[in-house]
Amino acid sequence: GADRVFFVGGNWKCNGSKSEIKTLVESFNKDAPTTSDVEVVVGAPLPYLEYTRGLLRSDWGVSAQNCWIGKGGAYTGEVTADMLADVGTDWVILGHSERRNLPELKESDATIATKTVYAISKGVSVMYCIGELLEERESGQTIAVCERQLKALGDVIGSDWSKIVIAYEPVWAIGTGKVATPEQAEEVHEAIRKWLAANVSQQVADSTRILYGGSVSPANCDELAKKPNIDGFLVGGASLKPDFVKIVESYK
Ligand code: G3P
Repeated sequence: GADRVFFVGGNWKCNGSKSEIKTLVESFNKDAPTTSDVEVVVGAPLPYLEYTRGLLRSDWGVSAQNCWIGKGGAYTGEVTADMLADVGTDWVILGHSERRNLPELKESDATIATKTVYAISKGVSVMYCIGELLEERESGQTIAVCERQLKALGDVIGSDWSKIVIAYEPVWAIGTGKVATPEQAEEVHEAIRKWLAANVSQQVADSTRILYGGSVSPANCDELAKKPNIDGFLVGGASLKPDFVKIVESYK
């Protein structure tokens, strides 16, 4: 992806405290390279978004991990994209497999797509997560599942995908230590790009960053990053450690 700036997102999920975040962010601020060759964003829990923004180097972005589907009102416990933007949050992760699949949450394709369109309308960029369950891979449905999840967004977003990055996260690889092989990931990334070319435009297919997520580590990132359609990573567990910087450096 010659014209696509490499992108590394960290997803801290429901982890961290002020003191842990301070220590981690201070190490990122000190150890990571300053370069326009990689865009880096860390996803903090909601109570820590402003705190993280205040501590974090200005060339890295801050992301939320969810938001409400539209504008605010009588939605107890929810947070809008307007609020995220207001406190300096540049990004939001939407459609993460945990939000799609946990029985307590069970977000639908349509809900996630609606959230995405609203967030970008408020200037909040979106890491739009897709990916198949193990049983879907084993029954040969991987590409069909990803296309269904892409179509949900395609049906409502229109032609401007400039505030979207797609994160392909096979559910069987998340938090399991069982990373997709570079070939497995590349096959799906290529299919996603083809879907964009056929259903949105060649320009969007060429310019949209497609990230891989699922047990990415300092040990496996370099091989994955070599693949032509892998434009970066969305990193869970390994983003809570100082050597997340090694994954950031895999843009090289
Ligand atoms: O969003 C990132 C993710 O779900 C992957 O988590 O811990 O397997 O890197 P992990």
